[in-house]
Amino acid sequence: MSARYILVLYYSRHGATAQMARQIARGVEMAGLEARLRTVPAVSSECEAVAPSVPEDGAMYATLDDLKNCSGLALGSPTRFGNMAAPLKYFIDGTSNLWLTGELVGKPAGVFTSTASLHGGQETTLLSMMLPLLHHGMLVCGLPYSESALLETRGGGTPYGPSHHAGGDGKRALDEHETALCRALGQRLAQTASKLER
Ligand SMILES: Cc1cc2nc3c(=O)[nH]c(=O)nc-3n(C[C@H](O)[C@H](O)[C@H](O)COP(=O)(O)O)c2cc1C
Repeated sequence: MSARYILVLYYSRHGATAQMARQIARGVEMAGLEARLRTVPAVSSECEAVAPSVPEDGAMYATLDDLKNCSGLALGSPTRFGNMAAPLKYFIDGTSNLWLTGELVGKPAGVFTSTASLHGGQETTLLSMMLPLLHHGMLVCGLPYSESALLETRGGGTPYGPSHHAGGDGKRALDEHETALCRALGQRLAQTASKLER
């Protein structure tokens, strides 16, 4: 069976993580696979508030079928106190049926994040996102040091996955190394998925 698509699933409140997601999708497509960009709605502080089923702009909201049928997954979140953001965690907490049926077992996955401060929790956030993926039996891919940007970067970029330093005002754009590492993850997931599904 040939690989079908890599799901690039992320939450982004101010756009930095969304920018990374688009570069990861570019990497997936450079490796010849379809990238499916999907987001999750914000978690409301009012329990009764319900978000519209279609977002005003940007990527569509993810469904469990998007996750179930993917050939691989890139999961991204801004740092929230060194951890993944609640809206993404909320979505993941709704995947029990996929865990019970083992739908994600053996599929490749990677993680990415954006932070305001350079040392404000990129690696812990990336690791926090790996935990549920490991429980699902996914094969977690990091980034190898054969990616020269890992050694050259003055911003984000880790062996655990791509990261971005957005700055205190959130306006710092992805630099060339951060961009290269996002694309590298996309390519790596697509190539791994294709090999596994051969
Ligand atoms: C509640 C909250 C907690 C945050 N915690 C951190 C943190 O621990 N470290 C950090 O560097 N940035 C932190 N930030 C900043 C965001 O992670 C950062 O601005 C990120 O780039 C936003 O991504 P986005 O543009 O995709 O929403 C926090 C922001 C919020 C709202």
